Amino acid sequence: MDKSIKIAAICGSPHRGNTYEILRMLKQSNPEIDFKILMLSELDLKDCFGCYSCINNGEDTCPHKDDRDLIIEEMKNADATIFASPTYARAISALMKKFVERTSFMAHRPIFFGKYAMALSTCGGFGADLTCKYLTENFTQYGFNFVPSVELMVARKTENETARNRIQARKAYVKLISAIKAEEKIEPTFAQLVYFNIFKSISEWNKLKGRADYEFYQDKKDYYYDIQIPFWKKSIVKWIAGKEIKKMKVNTST
Ligand SMILES: Cc1cc2nc3c(=O)[nH]c(=O)nc-3n(C[C@H](O)[C@H](O)[C@H](O)COP(=O)(O)O)c2cc1C
Repeated sequence: MDKSIKIAAICGSPHRGNTYEILRMLKQSNPEIDFKILMLSELDLKDCFGCYSCINNGEDTCPHKDDRDLIIEEMKNADATIFASPTYARAISALMKKFVERTSFMAHRPIFFGKYAMALSTCGGFGADLTCKYLTENFTQYGFNFVPSVELMVARKTENETARNRIQARKAYVKLISAIKAEEKIEPTFAQLVYFNIFKSISEWNKLKGRADYEFYQDKKDYYYDIQIPFWKKSIVKWIAGKEIKKMKVNTST
């Protein structure tokens, strides 16, 4: 059964350092799993121009021709993606941020429903929780189901510290594998339902500029896929989303 599991690990560290070492350890711990480590530093990923073309006209209109789609393809082919970044200045690394920006059209048009994910960060003292929170919140918008993250302190590299970190990372990894095997269904959260309503509304009012979003949301009713949402929940979600949309309309009308 494990043979068929595929994991893509995206590493936002600029070198094969502490973060990579944890990923390598996880890969070695279950050799029967097809575990691919994608080092962003060793791939061709250009800086986002901020031209909005991917968001408005479709991702295929991005002016860059580089490895962005190769990475997305690996994520699509995998059962789960591990988003790994060292904590630099209490946040994700610049490389990981570049990846986030280059793929942010998927916050508008998420495609990873039914796929699992885990955030992982190493830090010297504090901030790995902030990094993992950002990774989880951002990539949840792409449709992933996240399992609890791995937040590690790599300070002194003593035997005890290394052993503790390995145990913690392994525990989380086992949970990720279990979630994949169980095909755990995770209901969308309130926030995800609200986001859906906001993005769908924007796609309608912005349809002349945002052709790609408009087309994407045309056949979507209550959520990105067919689900039953109780009437009371739908009403509350629509009310909250409506308030947010009203604020946005006011802000963009002047
Ligand atoms: C530029 C830079 C900024 C850093 N900022 C933090 C920080 O804010 N908090 C922290 O605990 N460690 C910080 N560190 C330490 C790293 O998070 C830690 O050494 C991490 O394990 C490095 O992973 P890497 O080897 O994959 O780069 C920083 C390191 C660098 C190089």
